[in-house]
Parts: sequence; structure tokens; C-alpha cells
Amino acid sequence: MDKILVLDFGGQYNQLIARRVRDQRVFAEILPYNRITPAQILAAGYKGVIFTGGPNSVYDSSSPHYPPEVLDLGIPVLGICYGCQLIAYIGGGEIKSAGETSEYGKIDHRVTDPDCPIFKGVPETDVCWMSHTDFVSRVPDGFKVAGVTDNCPCAAMFDRERRIYGVQFHPEVTHTRFGERLLHNFLYDICGVSGDWTAGNFADASIAHYKKTLKGKKVLLALSGGVDSSVAAVLLHKAIGDDLTCVFVDHGLLRKDEGDIVERTFRGRFGLNMIRVNAGERFLARLKGVTEPEQKRKIIGEEFIRVFEDVAGQIGSVNVLAQGTIYPDVIESGAGDAATIKSHHNVGGLPSVIKFDEIAEPLRTLFKDEVRRVGIELGIPYELVWRQPFPGPGLAIRVIGEVTREKLDILREADAIFREEVMKAGLERDTNQYFAVLTDTRTVGVMGDARTYGYTVALRAVSTDDFMTADWSRLPFELLANASARITNECRGVSRVVYDITSKPPATVEWE
Ligand code: XMP
Repeated sequence: MDKILVLDFGGQYNQLIARRVRDQRVFAEILPYNRITPAQILAAGYKGVIFTGGPNSVYDSSSPHYPPEVLDLGIPVLGICYGCQLIAYIGGGEIKSAGETSEYGKIDHRVTDPDCPIFKGVPETDVCWMSHTDFVSRVPDGFKVAGVTDNCPCAAMFDRERRIYGVQFHPEVTHTRFGERLLHNFLYDICGVSGDWTAGNFADASIAHYKKTLKGKKVLLALSGGVDSSVAAVLLHKAIGDDLTCVFVDHGLLRKDEGDIVERTFRGRFGLNMIRVNAGERFLARLKGVTEPEQKRKIIGEEFIRVFEDVAGQIGSVNVLAQGTIYPDVIESGAGDAATIKSHHNVGGLPSVIKFDEIAEPLRTLFKDEVRRVGIELGIPYELVWRQPFPGPGLAIRVIGEVTREKLDILREADAIFREEVMKAGLERDTNQYFAVLTDTRTVGVMGDARTYGYTVALRAVSTDDFMTADWSRLPFELLANASARITNECRGVSRVVYDITSKPPATVEWE
């Protein structure tokens, strides 16, 4: 498989660059600049290297640099923004601050050397996306300028012989209209990749790999029914069959019928060797009297591990613990000296009393959308692969205040009705997450001729790209009216329904 190295100098778009490369069916891997030497790049057999942008100026004493030998490895290099300036700097050129004429946003780019191979098929003038203060004021020996903007005398440069390219703009950002074409030219014409990176190829190669490396070993995986653990489970099952045991801890905080659906799908349809633990009582007992959100999360996380350990203890010896870790969880940032690895935003963590020799993380090189594509390749049902996110602590953080069986039952029904109405309206793909919350507020109502005093259900629906920020979804009034009428009619103990119209920030998606 052809590989491209994305060398990270602390830019905000480093993940995006890797994704754009993978969109072109080429595997890309991100590494911090200080984790790999030029000799190691050569030895690893990369077909090309991309230097990312970064917030620094090359002349700052603290700015990240890289040995100039990288330009003489015989491997093509493309520098983007800071990466372009760095190539100019280590190659012996000059950089200046643009000061007043710094460029941010959409800018007209003009190709000045149509023979430059990265501009094949690119219009002479087109829009690019710029975000820089410094620029290359003199290109190094052997380089030529290939593109300019009104304020940037070197928006693109290249050394044809050594196959080194630099662009001041950001081809990975969709606002650069010719960015995809430029990356395609670099990857296919300059690096000579074959484009063999697809979800299907990944699944086949991965299954073959684990068939060999996990042969005869006992593997244990915590299956939640979420996309990542599901895809990891099915993939490993195809490799090692019944040597994989999946433990599904039903903490009693799942949505309506969810536990049964997970069981039917994985045990029934895929024939997975699965142990379902109905631990609802245990969790409810531990949550009794607890109202503080962080404490709820902590208790659920700890109890989850404890249940998992109990079951694992009964299974006996295990060689390998498998996890559904995905790429964004493991990417290290190259910006600082200390590597920061994002911690799992999930229930779980590593169980401490289970002894195992190794960890298998079959999805650790994949982005979320790639995990989904692999899931489809493996035959996992569409609804499961495109399932909306559901927090590890489950409905416990959607029941405000103390969690009781009665409140969980009310919430489960209300939530199922709301989801049904969203689906009926055909809007389940237009809103990224939608659910009901059972608030701790009771209000007076009237039903028949009698006074009621019941709970207030809040409906929440958000639109978002990455869940870091989100806007509340403008659902049609008709849909909200139907959901409200059904919830107050069909859910005993609910006398009022409200719709949450707060974005994130200042609120979060979940109420707790
Ligand atoms: P917040 O509430 O932080 O949620 O705006 C952002 C996204 O993360 C989900 N979420 C969680 N997922 N374990 C998870 O696996 C958790 O503890 C957790 N808390 C929030 C939330 O549903 C939303 O999609």
C-alpha cells in the first residue's frame, strides 16, 4: 500500500490534509515533525511527504525546524503555508513578514508557470484560501516561482528536478477551488501513487493481518453497539471467529429496545460469540441518591469496568484486549514538545485486573467516516453504521437529578416517540443528534377535568460537523407539535414538553 507522510508542524488543518489525501484513495499518516528523521522517512518507504502549516515564523527561535536533508531523499515534498516557508528557509531562500498586506480568506491566485506539474488542469486564475503573515521573498537556488497573488509574490514555488513543491495557500481547504486537483496532481503525477486505499481493501488487508497475528489467541472486546466497537468486533470476528469474545454490558441506561437490537444484530445476524450482561440493577443501586452529573459519570465508568472485569474473570485467560480506538483518538499534536494524546471521551478505560499480553486496535488508523465505510463493506446494517452518537453514560445524563427506574421508563418512551417523529418527517439525516431529556421540573397540567402534576420533557436536536460546536436544529413546528401531543398523551407522568433552543457554546449538547 502506498503511503504519504503528513509531517505536522502544528497547523490547524493537519487532520484535514490527511483526509483529503485519503479521499484520493491514498493512505496518509500524520506524524509530529520531531518524531521522525529524514533517514527514517526514507526507510519507511513513503511515496511523498507533505509539510503542514503552523502558527510560527521560521525565524522565531522556538519555531519547529527540520533537517534540510529531507529535500535530497529523492522523495517528493509538498510544503503548505508554514511548510512552504520552511522549505524555502532550509533550502537557503528568504522569508519576510507581509505586515499590512497579510492575506486571510479567499484570494485570487494566478498561475505564472503553467508548466509547473502541480498546476496541470488548474485555471490560470482561480480562488485560493490564504491565511498567512509571512511569505517567501526569495526562493532557494533551483526553485522557480509558479504562482502569485496581488500581495504575495510567491504563492507557489517548485524545484522540478528534486520534485519539491511549496504553496503559500491551503489546497486542503475546500475554499481553494483547485485544491483537490492540485493534490491529485501531486499524489498521482509527482509521487506516482496507485490509489489502492479503499475501505474494501482496508478491510481485506486487516482481516488477513489479524488472521495471521491473532491465530490461536483469545481476544476480548467490550461491545457497546456504537459504531466503532461494532465495526472492530465484526472485522475481528471475520479474522478469528469464535476466538473473539464480545462482552456487551447492558447498564440499563440504554434507549428503548436498544439492548435487544444489539444482541439480535451481533449474536443473531453476525454469529458473534457474545456475552450480554444485564447489569441494570447494579448500576441503579450505585446511582441511588446521586444527582451531581460528574459523579454520575464517574460511578458509571467505574461500575462498567467492574462488571467487565467480573465477566472477563469468568471467561478465563485472555491474550489480547481489543478496542475500537479510532485515529482522532491517537493523533499526537506536533505543536508542543510534550505529546498530548486525546483521552477517550467514553465510558471505560483500561480494566486493571484483566491480564492480557497485547492490545489490538484494528481501527486506529481510520477517521470516523472511514470506519463507517469499512462497516458498510463488512455488511453491518446501514442504521447501525449511521447511528447517531449516544453517550457512554447513556440515559443517566439525560435524566436530570436522581436516576430512578420510573424516570428512565418515562424518558425511554418519550425519546422513542421523538425519534419516531423525526424519522416520519424524513429529517433523521438533516439533524445530527436528537433526543429527549427528562428534566427534574414538575409542572401543573390539566387532563380530562383533572389536575395533573407531571414532569417536563425537553426535546433537543442539534446540527453540527464535529460536535465541538453545534447549533439547535430548526425542526418544523408540525413535527414538534406531533411529538409534543404524542408524548403528553402516551407517556404517563409527563404534563409538558419544551424544545431546547440553545446552541453550543454556551450550552453543551447533553444537558449534563
Ligand atoms: P457535549 O454534551 O459535550 O457532547 O456537548 C458532545 C458529544 O459527545 C457526546 N457525549 C459523550 N459521548 N461519552 C461518550 O461516548 C460521554 O461521556 C459523552 N458525553 C457527551 C454527546 O452525546 C455529543 O454527541
